[in-house]
Amino acid sequence: MKILAGSANPRLAERLAHEMGCSIAEVESKEFPDGEIYVRLVEDVRGEDVVIVQSTHPATKFVEFLLLEDAAREGGAASVTAVIPYYAYARQDQAFKSGEIVSAKALAEFIELKVDRVITVDPHKEHILGFFSIEAHGVSAIPEIARHLEDSVKPDLILAPDKGALARAEECAGILGIPVDYLEKTRISGTEVVMKTKDLPVEGKRVVILDDMIATGGTIATATKELRRQGAASISAACTHGLFTNNAITRLKDAGCDHVIAVDTLECEAAVVSAAPAVARALRPLVERAV
Ligand code: R5P
Repeated sequence: MKILAGSANPRLAERLAHEMGCSIAEVESKEFPDGEIYVRLVEDVRGEDVVIVQSTHPATKFVEFLLLEDAAREGGAASVTAVIPYYAYARQDQAFKSGEIVSAKALAEFIELKVDRVITVDPHKEHILGFFSIEAHGVSAIPEIARHLEDSVKPDLILAPDKGALARAEECAGILGIPVDYLEKTRISGTEVVMKTKDLPVEGKRVVILDDMIATGGTIATATKELRRQGAASISAACTHGLFTNNAITRLKDAGCDHVIAVDTLECEAAVVSAAPAVARALRPLVERAV
């Protein structure tokens, strides 16, 4: 097995290679001044089981992913597995208004053209995997997040920012053996959310708000202010995918967040948890099956 590491996740690719005991095939990739992407496979992958590691955010990384797929096929790989740590465009997972394009489905149709199977980490919604007609696996990085929280902030309570995020919060709280609750969020715009006031048992408690992704930080900042008002001792924001647009980390800290924790599905300063063990858990049975 050889890993083709795109430029979106070089650190995760290295950690995954270490977990799997395999090597990283050398790829030259660069961005031209006009933003177009160049990819060259330096190493021979003929007859190899190739694993491409590349998140599809922002859009140029998606283009790079498509070029890597092509490189693996043109290079004569025996099989191609796509590890897409952060599967972008997933929030448009259904048509909310007539004429809307379900981007999560549209991208899947491109991705599967040249790969045999897909593995992604904490997809926004589970049904996204059904948009692929090839084998698609979602792996949970919640056990890794839970272990990190246990060793660092030692939470008393896990809070989901809305009901849609409750299953992940429950998984995490279940591992840690601590209570779980959720807030009621209404989204006003891309950057603004309101939370319904709810009395929570947070006074003097170390609370972790857990979401699948943090983009502008609007959701967690609003929740943090409410928890501060209700007397939480410490507040941490944890997520799998740390997009952190428009200085979101500063926004969270300003709102009263003590710690911001993310997984390395996207490279960012808060990515202190690695998804490599979670991806390896899904990859190993596939490799064994191929032997
Ligand atoms: C929404 O469905 C997602 O799970 C996140 O709650 C949302 O994308 C977070 O966005 P932001 O950080 O901009 O509030």
